[in-house]
Amino acid sequence: MAFPKNFLWGAATAAYQVEGAWNQDGKGPSIWDNFVRIPGKTFEGTTGDVAADHYNRYIEDVALMGEMGLKSYRFSISWARLLPKGRGEISEQGVEFYSNLIDELIKHNIVPFITLYHWDLPQGLQDDIGGWESRECSDAFEEYARLCFERFGDRVNHWITFNEPIIFEMFGYVTGAHPPAKNNPFLMYQASHYVNLAHAKAVMTYRELGCKGNIGMSNVINPAYPYTDSKEDREATWWAESFIFHWYYDPVLKGEYPKEYLAKIEARYGKLDITHDDLRLLKQAKSDFIGINYYQPTRIAAPDSKADSNEKNNRSPGAAGDVSFCGNYKTVMDPLQFEYTKWQWEVCPDALRDCMHRIKDRYGDIPIYITENGLGDEDPIVEGEVLDKARIDFIRRHLIACEQALDEGIQLKGYYAWSWIDLLSWLNGYKKQYGFVYVDRSNLQRKKKQSYYWYEQVIASNGETI
Ligand code: FCB
Repeated sequence: MAFPKNFLWGAATAAYQVEGAWNQDGKGPSIWDNFVRIPGKTFEGTTGDVAADHYNRYIEDVALMGEMGLKSYRFSISWARLLPKGRGEISEQGVEFYSNLIDELIKHNIVPFITLYHWDLPQGLQDDIGGWESRECSDAFEEYARLCFERFGDRVNHWITFNEPIIFEMFGYVTGAHPPAKNNPFLMYQASHYVNLAHAKAVMTYRELGCKGNIGMSNVINPAYPYTDSKEDREATWWAESFIFHWYYDPVLKGEYPKEYLAKIEARYGKLDITHDDLRLLKQAKSDFIGINYYQPTRIAAPDSKADSNEKNNRSPGAAGDVSFCGNYKTVMDPLQFEYTKWQWEVCPDALRDCMHRIKDRYGDIPIYITENGLGDEDPIVEGEVLDKARIDFIRRHLIACEQALDEGIQLKGYYAWSWIDLLSWLNGYKKQYGFVYVDRSNLQRKKKQSYYWYEQVIASNGETI
């Protein structure tokens, strides 16, 4: 039996995608509240104004989690709900909501796993200081993190500072698909450093306060594989690995930037503001674990041209398609060789196992949580039942990969399916479903899907029924 007794069987959500109540009870606006109102930015103009209305229905939602036997729930805090302007004045109503949610989870024996930042920066910070373009934003984040540790740290022992920096930085500053929707690679790299700094400051504060839990970061990983064995494709893969993997994980797990890559991007885009003190701080701020969000690998080929050609596309770095970032590589889709979801994400459970080994090889034997993994689909409804067999199959195959990794000595501590409930898919509206629980968009009523009952069995048997 590979899964350890205390394995955290979980599911995840994020505040903007699930809560709704975007301007209720004193919450300030976030950059997402404004961005979705710009015509043409999201699928059919969908917003998270109501989302799954979890803010008003969390008691019912947690009861459903309890009924399933869920061991842990990963959710994010909306920064602007606690600090409407991002810093300064505190909204006690916001604090109370998360405090109640945490109590409710604990009442049902569910371990709360909190993400501090899942992309919804308070608009006030974007307006006043330019958000992540500014060093000051890392201090604002520290203030916010401190507040969370002080108010919730007595009951919460699992903390993720940031969710997927690569996505909000790449989309926010290169492709323009996410707020603040700029097209400037230099800003992306600079923001990336300030985010790492914010992470490190929060980790140091967590230690100073004497909190006894664990703190780390979650990033997406799309392990890169050369499409062919040609020298050109292998060289392109070095670029992809350096950017997608090393650039994001090294500062968090080694406290440094990959030297050769940093030199190359500075030669191309200009010198970044990274001081010796910053680097010392990154080294000091040791994470207790790493969170991996895994959906798909990337197949990498040499680019068609060295120009910054496709930088305005809005696909994920690593998503299937013809993405050429910084002219150094492109990602390739090959339906004859590989399997894809309806949204053209490659299905490859073995790459999940592989990326855990890549982490261990590069950073040593650290605790790992799979903080997201799941299938986006349009679920069939047959005679009133949501029959999401494809999701069961997807998760089962990835759990088998986890089981193998555990057998091979990986310190895997938990698995969080994305997502607990059907919610807003940032740019794809509500059409792309991920949840164990279905939400009827006409009345927001909840309904258990086939996968809900299946995961319930998996948890009850501690993975034996996979
Ligand atoms: C990840 C995000 C998450 C969700 C999934 C499908 O990039 O962290 O919020 O949208 O993708």
